[in-house]
Formats: sequence, C-alpha cells, structure tokens
Amino acid sequence: MNRYHGRVVAITGAAQGLGLAMATRFAAEGATVALADVNAPTLTDAVETIAHAHEAKLRTDVVDVTDSAQVNDWITGVTAALGRLDVLVNNAGIIRDNRVEDITDDDWHAVIDVSLTGGFHCARAAFGPMKRQGYGRIISFSSMSWRGNFGQTNYVAAKAGIVGMTRTLALEGARHGITANAIAPGLIDTPMLASMNGPARDKLTDKIPMRHTGRPEDIAEAAAFLASEAAGYITGIVLDVDGGISIGSSIR
Ligand SMILES: NC(=O)c1ccc[n+]([C@@H]2O[C@H](COP(=O)([O-])OP(=O)(O)OC[C@H]3O[C@@H](n4cnc5c(N)ncnc54)[C@H](O)[C@@H]3O)[C@@H](O)[C@H]2O)c1
Repeated sequence: MNRYHGRVVAITGAAQGLGLAMATRFAAEGATVALADVNAPTLTDAVETIAHAHEAKLRTDVVDVTDSAQVNDWITGVTAALGRLDVLVNNAGIIRDNRVEDITDDDWHAVIDVSLTGGFHCARAAFGPMKRQGYGRIISFSSMSWRGNFGQTNYVAAKAGIVGMTRTLALEGARHGITANAIAPGLIDTPMLASMNGPARDKLTDKIPMRHTGRPEDIAEAAAFLASEAAGYITGIVLDVDGGISIGSSIR
C-alpha cells in the first residue's frame, strides 16, 4: 500500500510506543514522516529501527511539546523542509497517577501541559499550513479514561480536554479541508502501560471483553485510516480502539 505517497505526517511522542508504531505504519505506506520527541536517544533508536525496515523519508526533531516556541519552530521547519504538512498526530502524553488529594501541583500541570496544552500548541501551529493547502488531518490522543477513571484526575481532565479541543478544531477546520478526530485507546502494550501499577493494570485487563490488551499496531491501523483521504467526511469523532472495554461491564 502506498496511499501516503507524497504526504507529510508529523507525529509527537514518536520515539516509542504508539508514536513509534504509527511512524512505522505511515512510513510503510509511503509517507514522509517527521518524528518529534523530547527524548533524544530514544528518538535516534526509533529512526534507526524504521529506516532499517522501510525505505522511508524521515526527519527527526527533539521537541518538548509543552514549549510553544519549540513547537512553532518544529512545524515551520517541517513545512519549509518537506514542502507541506498533511497529517499532525498529537500523540505525546504522560501519566502521573494518584488519588485526587495526593496529586501535587507539579503532577497536575505536567500531565495537562504535555497532553492537552502540547496538543493545542501543535494544532495551532499546524492550522496555518493546512489551511493554505486546503487539506489537513489532525489526530489527537485521548484515552478510554476520558469518561472518568479512579486515580487519574489530571490525566482524565487532559484527555477529556482533548475531546473538546478536537470537536472545536473540527468545526474551525471543516471549511478548509481539515478534519480533526481523536483516538481513545484502551489498554495497549507500550512502555506507558508497563509503567502502570501492576495490580491496577491486571484488574483493568481483566475487564476487557476481548480478554487481552491491544497492540500498538491496532492503534496505528486506526490512525492510518482516520488520517487518510478516504476518511475525509469523518470529523470531530472519538474513535474507541479498546477491545470493547468502554462499552461497560463484561460478565463472564
Ligand atoms: N498505552 C496505552 O494503553 C494508552 C491508553 C490510552 C491512551 N494512551 C495515549 O496514547 C499516547 C501514547 O502513549 P504510549 O503508551 O505510546 O506512551 P509512551 O510513554 O510509551 O510514549 C510516549 C512518548 O511521548 C514522549 N513525550 C513525553 N513527554 C513529551 C513532551 N513534553 N514532548 C514531546 N514528547 C514527549 C515520550 O518521550 C515517549 O516517547 C499518549 O497520549 C497516551 O496518553 C495510551
């Protein structure tokens, strides 16, 4: 499949986990991929892995999405060097879980700043070039948690914020050929999931109707569809990719 030939895809948090899986998938489908991450060594490894597997055009930038100046420079640099910007994937996110009374100011701000404010910085910077092209796809990462989740007040606020932001970007982008959608993953095997408290992770896994966690490739598949030309009439949605966990209880 070469449906992304000639397209430029920019992904944040691309050094590992879902970001890396999506970068690999878009590269495999012919896209030029701009990978950004705050973690320079992991980013270098990631690009080597993709370049080894695919003859892809790749660009890497060390970017902290919480810093709007860095984000603006990144998007300007990508657009200038690669000629266009077709897809933005707002994937960078972190967790700092705790019960509400134990969430520190730092833990609150860190989580909101990376997921929500970072996503806003990137979307704002991407909107200009996408509008000028009359074409754009913005995919932002929410989570199954956006509806509420014990011990995640900061993360839930950020991920619910992503939903509101996405719906509004969809309205503002609609007349310019820009769609904006969110993906709400369930439990997917990445370093982030591995970093979760073990018993909590096991309890959650037990609730998945499909009885297993997802693979990063499951998310990459959804992103590759939502960001495609074929998905041009879909905007403002939250796509659950979660083995059914968001449906409700799974009695067995
Ligand atoms: N894995 C899951 O089960 C799951 C479930 C729901 C939602 N999500 C969401 O999917 C996204 C990706 O998750 P993951 O599991 O791949 O996480 P991960 O921790 O494995 O990878 C996240 C990447 O983001 C980068 N990053 C962190 N802060 C950054 C910053 N300030 N600027 C730029 N990059 C930064 C990290 O260096 C890392 O490479 C996140 O938004 C996460 O909240 C994941």
